[in-house]
Amino acid sequence: MDRIETIRQDVSLKDYNTFGIEARAKYFISVRTEEEVYRLFDPGSMIRGERLLILGGGSNILFTDDFDGLVVKMDLKGIQTMQDQADYAEIKVSAGENWDGLVQHCVQRHLGGLENLSLIPGTVGAAPVQNIGAYGAEIRDVLIEVNCWDRWSSQVVVLPAEDCQLGYRNSIFKTSAKDRYVILSITLRLSKQAVFNIGYSSLELELEHIGVRELSLEVIRDAVISVRRRKLPDPARAGNAGSFFRNPEVSGTIYDDLKLAFPGLVGYPQPDGSCKLAAGWLIEHCGWKGYRQGDAGVHPEQALVLVNYGNATGQEILQLATQIRQSVKKRFGVELEAEVNIL
Ligand code: EPU
Repeated sequence: MDRIETIRQDVSLKDYNTFGIEARAKYFISVRTEEEVYRLFDPGSMIRGERLLILGGGSNILFTDDFDGLVVKMDLKGIQTMQDQADYAEIKVSAGENWDGLVQHCVQRHLGGLENLSLIPGTVGAAPVQNIGAYGAEIRDVLIEVNCWDRWSSQVVVLPAEDCQLGYRNSIFKTSAKDRYVILSITLRLSKQAVFNIGYSSLELELEHIGVRELSLEVIRDAVISVRRRKLPDPARAGNAGSFFRNPEVSGTIYDDLKLAFPGLVGYPQPDGSCKLAAGWLIEHCGWKGYRQGDAGVHPEQALVLVNYGNATGQEILQLATQIRQSVKKRFGVELEAEVNIL
């Protein structure tokens, strides 16, 4: 049967975004194989001209309206070992695999490099798009290449990680090549040696608190999971998309001035002399932490996370985000930028 026939119409997206926002897609299809992707994006395909949204786990998106186009849910599955050397292994993972399922799989196989990225919601294909990161690690530390369908040349291309311009929550998939590539799978190089990355302060504190005698990938994964569970809301209980804003970067001079005026300010000096500010701190010190209006709110444990307590609309979340941006700008003179994709 022609899979294109399985395109559904007028589909609710509520279960496809971790914010739990009700929005409807004009068309919706789930793709499970690379061949289906090639067919769907063939230049002669009936979807030509439709607005497109490629969806992974929907964990970094805010719908503020219905989607007047085709939503393609990437459900391709599979983990393949491409190389198995004495001190590392390379694995190729399909875009639709659940991210944390992959982390767990690697930790069980004693392959190191992803453990600090435990419990990040979403899928593997979405991970390089915003160069996911947490607790001192980012996917760019282990990413070798990204295998994509190139919609411009209608062929499969392999992009080496160096060509993906992976930066802080950024990549070509969000900027110069937005809407060009459909990520099919990624290849990662993971270590078989005992190298642990525990420098991030809240992770270090957690490990001390647990009283760990011997480090292992499992111990780090468990510590990351417990910090995340404490600080971040579970999307299954309260809709959210993790950090709503990026941590803003300011010049060293601005940081010094702010630090004089607000000694408690949290900032991380960068190698180029600039400074990344903890947006959660700025938002908390504008009084927003734990704020709630209707079903839209600011998480009581982490002010960088906006929450849908039930039936908030995307517009209500966006309005709250705008109020927060304005007050941070007014009090600290700092501009916050959304980290979440707003549609
Ligand atoms: N802070 C406050 N008040 C708050 C929240 C944070 O004062 O309400 C302070 C904390 O005390 C700490 C500092 O801000 O000193 C940093 O907080 P945290 O360690 O929680 O990290 P973050 O900078 O707020 C970033 C990522 C998170 C990631 C954590 C841990 C961004 C936008 N967010 O948050 O990523 O889990 O570091 O590495 O970079 C995500 O992207 O969705 C996400 C959750």
